[in-house]
Amino acid sequence: MFLRPQGGANRILGSSGTLLLPAILLHPSLDSMESVFTLENISKTFHRGREMVAALDGICLAVPAGSFFGIVGTSGAGKSTLLRLLNLLESPSRGVVRFHGHDIHQLRGAERRSYLSQVATIFQHFNLFHGKTVLENIAFPLAVRGVSRTERRRKAQELIELVGLQGKEGAYPSQLSGGQKQRVGIARAVVADAQVLLCDEATSALDSETTTLILDLLLRLKAQLGLTIILITHSWDVVRHAADSVTLIQHGRVVEAGGVRELLHDADSYLGRQLLPAPDLSHGPAQGWVRYDLLLSDVRVQSTVFSDAARRLDVTSAVVSGGVERLGGVDAARFKVDFDIRGKAPSVLEALSSILREKSIVLGKAA
Ligand SMILES: Nc1ncnc2c1ncn2[C@@H]1O[C@H](COP(=O)(O)OP(=O)(O)OP(=O)(O)O)[C@@H](O)[C@H]1O
Ligand SMILES: [Mg+2]
Repeated sequence: MFLRPQGGANRILGSSGTLLLPAILLHPSLDSMESVFTLENISKTFHRGREMVAALDGICLAVPAGSFFGIVGTSGAGKSTLLRLLNLLESPSRGVVRFHGHDIHQLRGAERRSYLSQVATIFQHFNLFHGKTVLENIAFPLAVRGVSRTERRRKAQELIELVGLQGKEGAYPSQLSGGQKQRVGIARAVVADAQVLLCDEATSALDSETTTLILDLLLRLKAQLGLTIILITHSWDVVRHAADSVTLIQHGRVVEAGGVRELLHDADSYLGRQLLPAPDLSHGPAQGWVRYDLLLSDVRVQSTVFSDAARRLDVTSAVVSGGVERLGGVDAARFKVDFDIRGKAPSVLEALSSILREKSIVLGKAA
């Protein structure tokens, strides 16, 4: 049975670290969205000599179909182990991983092959065949499946165009840049009509400009091919740029998970604040001023919130820090804004507070 967490995001640990929900985590919009994967109480223990390492410890997750599902966590948290359970390189010590409802670790023969053809992996170090050309690398999964030579070339050529490698068909991996190699890795992963792309640190060997290009390519392929992408990363920038859902794993457990928009809206969410951090300011508001820490979840429709409030109440406002980020497909922003309430009646401060709460998300207030 699935339990539904309270609030927008799925959190099992409160900011104080107390356990809120010993529950199976569901994406908030799961009602309207089918899940590709559900992980039900997954644990994985490795034996290192006499020592036992609990890499995963009671993981419960649902991955919505069509999501760009970011997984973050410190080194050793269990992220790669989780992915290796999905592509059948490991089996769980306990629990069940379901793909569209089927227990993937029970699949055998043709069913197992069919599953593996729907779930492709791309790697940090690309894992290309050095003795094969770009075209041969991309066509390789089709050759394994016995697809005819003509059809292989046609499909591989189509993918080469889709990932922007025209003119490089005959090049060998050693003649390509890191970004071009990852494009080959991506094309090879999706050539056999994969539904799901698993990416373990797929951009961490690339510079930030190339990372952006590769993430944009993944986003485009997701839209064009209807993929679900699960991406492990250490980089908050990668999550901010691409993910629409985020899961934080620590010590083999899910600490927090949710859709980017829900996490942003949740004033207590650790992930939400990581997605849209506010710089620490060395100084507080001036005497008689009040400072608000505000989040605009859609800048397009909320950009005049503080100037409107200030005008309506005849107070001066000053933005002291802030910036706009494109998150989960919308422009969101976090601002610290000071308002001059010197000599104003308490009702003005009350009115200011209620306008700001109505029109934006108030994350904090300092007088
Ligand atoms: N085959 C294995 N044998 C023994 N221990 C393992 C094995 N694979 C992983 N572990 C251990 O399980 C834990 C989780 O490892 P995992 O590789 O999943 O972490 P990670 O979150 O991917 O870390 P990183 O960010 O550094 O890649 C670590 O303590 C690791 O040493
Ligand atoms: Mg790893």
